[in-house]
Amino acid sequence: MLVRLYDLPDFPSEAKVAAAGVTVRRALPPERHFVTAWVGAKFNNYWVSEVEMAMSQHPVTCWIAVRGNDLLGFACHDASMKGFFGPTGVGEAARGQGIGEALLIATLRGMREAGYGYAVIGDPGPVEFYQRRLDALEIPKSSPGIYGGMLAEPNPE
Ligand SMILES: CC(C)(COP(=O)(O)OP(=O)(O)OC[C@H]1O[C@@H](n2cnc3c(N)ncnc32)[C@H](O)[C@@H]1OP(=O)(O)O)[C@@H](O)C(=O)NCCC(=O)NCCS
Repeated sequence: MLVRLYDLPDFPSEAKVAAAGVTVRRALPPERHFVTAWVGAKFNNYWVSEVEMAMSQHPVTCWIAVRGNDLLGFACHDASMKGFFGPTGVGEAARGQGIGEALLIATLRGMREAGYGYAVIGDPGPVEFYQRRLDALEIPKSSPGIYGGMLAEPNPE
């Protein structure tokens, strides 16, 4: 999917999430082990590798949602490809409260500040999530896109 970054809308979830005591911010390099372990426990190893990439850049291109000392979600850009948004995920217990959207808009604004005019969502998964507030366009003939031929995890026997 393709997203214009120069006319991003306001997302009401930002204020809602802040009012609920959740902070959405750029992750810090010393938090890398913490964020990658959390993503590995809740999601998959491909995303761990992508988060490692995002957490190794200066400035870091991974945003996190935190309440107190609890990590609730993450979103990256420039992980697999320059100009790509993702991966992103919110812990199951914290879903449906606007955190995914708040992470999305914070990361897209970060991309705009980094000099991009457009973002590519390389592997969107729930397309409706991205189309709800963003006027995101599906890119024809782009599946599996850059991920074609990627090594697969062995099946556990
Ligand atoms: C997709 C995901 C990040 C959304 O996080 P979230 O915090 O639950 O999302 P929000 O609460 O901000 O949802 C905002 C809106 O999008 C909608 N939405 C959320 N997830 C959706 C989905 N999978 N499909 C369609 N709509 C969705 C919500 O219903 C909500 O609408 P509402 O305000 O009318 O209730 C989360 O469900 C997740 O981690 N999923 C597994 C990982 C994944 O698929 N990541 C995306 C691919 S990289």
